[in-house]
Amino acid sequence: MTITIAVAGKGGTGKTTLTALLIQQAIDEKWGSILAIDADPSSNLNQALGLPLDGTVGDIREDALDQVKAGSFPPGMSKQDYLDYQVNQCLVEADGVDLLAMGRPEGPGCYCAANNMLRIIVDRIAGGYDYVFIDNEAGMEHLSRRTTRDVDLLFIVSDPSVRGLTAAKRMKELVHELETTVHRMVLVLNMAPDPLPAELQKAVAETGLELVGVLPRDPLVAEYDAIGRPLAQLPPDSPIRKAVAEIAASQADILRVKAAVGHSEG
Ligand SMILES: Nc1ncnc2c1ncn2[C@@H]1O[C@H](COP(=O)(O)OP(=O)(O)O)[C@@H](O)[C@H]1O
Ligand SMILES: [Mg+2]
Repeated sequence: MTITIAVAGKGGTGKTTLTALLIQQAIDEKWGSILAIDADPSSNLNQALGLPLDGTVGDIREDALDQVKAGSFPPGMSKQDYLDYQVNQCLVEADGVDLLAMGRPEGPGCYCAANNMLRIIVDRIAGGYDYVFIDNEAGMEHLSRRTTRDVDLLFIVSDPSVRGLTAAKRMKELVHELETTVHRMVLVLNMAPDPLPAELQKAVAETGLELVGVLPRDPLVAEYDAIGRPLAQLPPDSPIRKAVAEIAASQADILRVKAAVGHSEG
């Protein structure tokens, strides 16, 4: 059974940072096989993980549609087989984690057939892993397009502002209207002061989401990002990695991992 973990939130709140560090945590603790899905069209999860990226599922769709239009689609090959082959070609296979980037979402044209085929293909690839981590674009487009399977655990990341938390609350409400089933939704605050000011505590309570962790502002994150060094290489004892370890431990029941870092088992 594949466990699917998704990270969502407004732009720039730290979704990619959290996704990459959760994946590194999973690798370090040997949870199992891992697929990282980059569902943000700006495709930068690979950099945070220190992985190369040659192409995206979006590129494959556009390319196949161009070929069909131009009449140059490989004869004697079914479109499903062709897409299947191409998607597997752009799967990045690395030590401890594989990566698939979704790239650009479909345009306004009638791309349903291609997208349905791609959905089936990505779903089948994902089903071969113990854990799938999805780094979403800002907003809920990807989840609402249902490009992937149901989600066991959704992290909504917010900056420490009342406006940010209002957006997180709206996102939570939207999830209930989606076709995608989300089994558990929790809140993570990024770059928040400790302790939280009373106004923020009130705004957190008003989201109706359980706050499962606060990521500290970590100067190493900015430093690594500035020089293009993968965040996955942050030392395990850095403040942000410790915070991520605690968040993972707090969700041990749904992640089906042994609880560690000070949390009791069971
Ligand atoms: N805890 C943190 N400490 C310091 N810088 C951070 C932290 N979290 C994120 N950043 C910085 O904020 C920016 C946005 O983070 P990112 O994870 O890319 O957000 P998103 O994926 O939500 O757009 C990046 O430049 C990153 O270096
Ligand atoms: Mg991002």
